Amino acid sequence: MTSHPSLPLPELSVHDLLCTSDLTTEDIEHVFTTAVTLKAGRDEHNQVLRQKRLAMIFEKDSLRTRFTFDIGMQDLGGSCVFMDHRDARLGSRESVKDMARNLERWVDCIVARTFKHKVLDELAANADIPIINGLSDFVHPCQALADFMTLRERWGNPAGKTLTYVGDGNNTCHSLIHTAAKLGTHIRACSPEGYEPNARVVSEAMRVAHQTGAEISILNDPDAAADGADAIYTDVWASMGQEDEIEERNGLFAPYQVNADMMARAKPDAFFMHCLPAHRGSEVTADVMDGHQSIVYDIAENRLHVQKALLALLIR
Ligand code: CP
Ligand code: NVA
Repeated sequence: MTSHPSLPLPELSVHDLLCTSDLTTEDIEHVFTTAVTLKAGRDEHNQVLRQKRLAMIFEKDSLRTRFTFDIGMQDLGGSCVFMDHRDARLGSRESVKDMARNLERWVDCIVARTFKHKVLDELAANADIPIINGLSDFVHPCQALADFMTLRERWGNPAGKTLTYVGDGNNTCHSLIHTAAKLGTHIRACSPEGYEPNARVVSEAMRVAHQTGAEISILNDPDAAADGADAIYTDVWASMGQEDEIEERNGLFAPYQVNADMMARAKPDAFFMHCLPAHRGSEVTADVMDGHQSIVYDIAENRLHVQKALLALLIR
């Protein structure tokens, strides 16, 4: 345990946050309890990261991830430098390894948003400071932690509840599957044929689910996926980098739109969830997105609290 007078900071079993599948169930609980304490906003936590510095390097656009890490770092007494890398992939001007070896001399943590997940692995392999995945093409771990923190606030223990994800079997979906498996939450991922989540993510999660009691189902039928669900989640049909597929995907994914008919199949008190940004009229209708079952802005708020917890727990 690191000693801080007011905020207990339990050791996590990981040095970096690349993927929620690397975390133990206990680690995830530590992140949640720390986030809840920080959300309660006690002043004495303000200086936990005094004189610590964060570097953020983003190859893609961001509103939530960028703002919440920057504000979170400031809230905890630290500072933040942002490097916009949208015009050139990481590794193009100098190797990722050399970047890592420079940055670790100046900052205490790196948050990176990349196309290729292996760039994050390379940063982590070459820097002694923690690397946090701010979204890669493979996973979106900070998002899933905020999603489950929000569900935990509503449901208490999320074990035994059913979360349905409808849409592209993408980065957001993978992290939901990883995290649900660890927490014993049943997850149904429902996509058009050919857009299902990665088979390795599913088989790994099924192995974990044997221990936690989670049920992992991969479906193509949106009605079956929505029936009796406790929450319905969706994400954009074309992720950043897939812009040229938008038209084709709009046609294929139309039956997977979250609308009032789909919500009516779920439990009456089911929540609607989305990582945002959302496209009203595509993956979700405006009435659902802005309706009383939607918790999308609560999730966005919790990005801040959960990431403050990650920063406080990972930066030493
Ligand atoms: N949900 C999410 O990660 O949002 P940004 O892309 O705006 O960071
Ligand atoms: N799947 C989306 C998530 C954005 C937060 C993307 O990768 O663009």
